[in-house]
Amino acid sequence: MSSFENEGPVRVSFEGDIAQVRIDNPPVNASSQAVRAGLLKAVEVVNARGGVHAAVLSCAGRTFMAGGDISEFDGPAPEPHLPDVLAAVEASRVPFVAVLHGTVLGGGFELAMCCAYRVAVSGTRFGLPEVRLGLIPGAGGTQRLPRLIGAEQAVQLCALGKQLSAEELLDLGGLDLVVTKGALDEAVSQFVANLPERPQALSQRDLPQFPQQSYEKLEGLVRKQAKGAAAPLHNLEAVKWASEMPFSEGQPRERALHLALRDSAESRGLRHLFFAERAAAKPRILKGVSAPHIQKVAVVGGGLMGCGIAMALLAAGCDVIMVERDDAAAHSAKERLKGLLDGALSRGKMSIEAVESALQRFLATADYAQCADVDLAIEAVFEDLDVKRDVFRALDNVVRKDAILATNTSYLDPILIFEGVTWPERCIGLHFFSPAHIMKLLEIVRLPTTSDAVLAAGFALGKRLGKVSVACGICDGFIGNRMLAAYRRQADYLLADGCLPEQIDAAMRGFGLPMGPYELQDLTGLQIAWANRQRQAETRSPNERYIPFGDLLCAREHFGQRSSRGWYQYREGERAPLADPEVENMILDWGRRNSVVRHTFTTEDIVARIMAVLINEGFLIIEEGIASSAEDVDLVQVHGYGFPRWRGGPMAYAREIGLEDVSRHMEAVAAQSPNSWRIAKALAL
Ligand code: COA
Repeated sequence: MSSFENEGPVRVSFEGDIAQVRIDNPPVNASSQAVRAGLLKAVEVVNARGGVHAAVLSCAGRTFMAGGDISEFDGPAPEPHLPDVLAAVEASRVPFVAVLHGTVLGGGFELAMCCAYRVAVSGTRFGLPEVRLGLIPGAGGTQRLPRLIGAEQAVQLCALGKQLSAEELLDLGGLDLVVTKGALDEAVSQFVANLPERPQALSQRDLPQFPQQSYEKLEGLVRKQAKGAAAPLHNLEAVKWASEMPFSEGQPRERALHLALRDSAESRGLRHLFFAERAAAKPRILKGVSAPHIQKVAVVGGGLMGCGIAMALLAAGCDVIMVERDDAAAHSAKERLKGLLDGALSRGKMSIEAVESALQRFLATADYAQCADVDLAIEAVFEDLDVKRDVFRALDNVVRKDAILATNTSYLDPILIFEGVTWPERCIGLHFFSPAHIMKLLEIVRLPTTSDAVLAAGFALGKRLGKVSVACGICDGFIGNRMLAAYRRQADYLLADGCLPEQIDAAMRGFGLPMGPYELQDLTGLQIAWANRQRQAETRSPNERYIPFGDLLCAREHFGQRSSRGWYQYREGERAPLADPEVENMILDWGRRNSVVRHTFTTEDIVARIMAVLINEGFLIIEEGIASSAEDVDLVQVHGYGFPRWRGGPMAYAREIGLEDVSRHMEAVAAQSPNSWRIAKALAL
């Protein structure tokens, strides 16, 4: 074997008449500037040497190239540019054979498509996920993929973010060979020794017109799934270019749009979340702290929340003991859990073996003594301080002294909940969101006594359960529900001062939320917020403006969809909210009695004022040390409250529109409802 002397992440070596081109750029072989330059040089070296039969291109480590280097996207793209590098690979006299493993994404898939042949290890995944970063591919992805597997399939990948398995791509004609990992070296040698006739380069192939009917159908689907984001539609459009113009025109057009989109608010927001999600998984304060292993978990309370938590734990391979107050309740809890498992089975989320294994690892009981050897106990009982305290008293008597104790409270003070528990360093809050086996967010609440190791165990568990974990300190509602309360309060002020529920809901839906505040309350029920307002009454400043509409509805037993009336009315068996004249009268009547002058608010006014309050609360939460960063606040909103991902979260949105603008609206909000808002330092004019 002879090796070409080269530095950097791309190395070339020769074995007889075969060149080996190896990319080694951990962690995911992203196509950074050094990789692009190295690849270009490799093409040159391989072609400069006489008698080379083929160049085998592979990547070291966990995956073939997983895309462009996202951290480079904030500045101008340094040369050489990926399209030029890939054009050189495609035009190489010596044919390139891509050997693919891991996740062949973005620029990695674009590179593979420029190789004359493609061999993949079974289990490899393929995709063009640029759409998830608010982008379109920038190096021929939207132009070569339709020429490889057809326009309809290309739309699925580019615009809808679908990924293909190696077997699926092989069926679509996108690969030459799929082999098991163990057989790879031998299969590649055989393949290279007997190369089939070199296929025409994808950039040279013609594509038939995209059938109008199928384009329109896909457009409807893409628009629906985009939920207001622009990138999916740009991707659809770019795929269409491939059937309307030659590659030599389509690709530069694709590149220009890719570069323009890098500079869009949508892409900045999505890139911000990409890195925020990864940073949140490993908080800096826990660097070097090792977490105790958690295998056996007690979940106290077998309601919807407790069963959702149990379900998430079982799916992650934990053993679960569910504790209920008596045998009958334990039996119902087991039935509820079985219902969730059946649902997962019928939706194809779990196999029959996985369901059986989960049931074997599950026990429902009324006997706390069964918890003697658990590593962790999570309380998910009724939101009442005394009830929760009783649970921990009972647990404290039976569990090991190093077993972690966690409360799932949404609003109560964990310090009070754990009062009197021995070894308080093992106490923590693990705030799941309902349904707990589906919702991604986990707020990990640190008490003043919580040890680093216990906090680290919370994060390790979150990771194992596939959650986005965010650390938070103690305040009423922690990060998410505290922001929700502020959001709802401001919406109520707008109702009082001139709006109707349907107007506010439409404005927030238009902004990108899946539902407005009133539709959402009707869906989840008005009682919890009602109980919270009653609980907070004692500590609420008497000067704070208080709007009683929610209380008035609850007093009439209009609790939302389940009682057929709430902020809206519902036809029997239907879930579509219908404006309720009685609610409108209630609002107008209250206004007349309290001499409130009603104003007209435009959709923009509504969004600006509600967003100002949400952002202000986010800043207060950071200033008070409840959240450690704006990124964490954004993650909570995106993963727990349906905030549109493509907007990056409220704090990223604030950066986009400018803090001065937010401050101005916050001033207006504070003037509208005096003595009701504390303005964060970051927004003080
Ligand atoms: N550019 C820069 N860094 C990247 C990257 C990229 N395209 N893809 C992954 N990384 C980094 C991550 O930030 C993380 O860094 P960290 O360890 O410092 O936090 C590290 O690589 C590992 O990524 P992670 O997502 O934690 O690992 P994983 O094994 O769960 O997933 C991938 C690997 C490749 C599937 C996933 O990272 C991914 O989807 N990446 C984006 C791919 C993409 O969008 N490509 C198109 C870009 S235009």
